[in-house]
Amino acid sequence: MNYKITSNSDMDTIELAQNIESEKFANMVICLEGDLGSGKTLFTKAFAKSLGIEENITSPTFNIIKEYEGEMRLFHMDVYRLSEVKEDIGISEYFKKGGITIIEWADLIEDIKPQNRLDIKIKIIGENKRIFSITPHGEEYEDLCERVL
Ligand SMILES: Nc1ncnc2c1ncn2[C@@H]1O[C@H](COP(=O)(O)OP(=O)(O)OP(=O)(O)O)[C@@H](O)[C@H]1O
Ligand SMILES: [Mg+2]
Repeated sequence: MNYKITSNSDMDTIELAQNIESEKFANMVICLEGDLGSGKTLFTKAFAKSLGIEENITSPTFNIIKEYEGEMRLFHMDVYRLSEVKEDIGISEYFKKGGITIIEWADLIEDIKPQNRLDIKIKIIGENKRIFSITPHGEEYEDLCERVL
């Protein structure tokens, strides 16, 4: 199953993130893909806010992983520069810490992605227009999509 959702504004993308957040569960993993400026961080910020995180979310491009405390713990990853990191930062360990993981540029770590996850590909159509292509992998993600998309 694949869901195509058109976003015509920041607000549409924020609402989409809020809807998905409303169905959160422990060890949820969201893999974001899309060009520079497509809205991966905007989506994550809205998800974090909905999760009750007051702290400002900034792109963790240089530290790869940032951790936030909300109704559940959020691990925000941006793996764009991962190949420049020498040490093994144990990305897959985060998938079972009971929190929620959101990964920007997840297509760069295809072999590390967990089997069960929500894939979100964002395509830039125009200045404010994006197409979100959402694919659930695993029953709990399929149920989530059926409920909120
Ligand atoms: N419909 C929309 N959905 C999401 N963002 C939008 C939309 N319309 C315009 N934008 C703008 O696009 C930009 C998205 O930036 P954002 O930092 O979220 O992208 P990104 O995918 O994280 O980029 P990067 O790859 O650099 O991390 C923001 O400035 C946002 O306001
Ligand atoms: Mg970003």
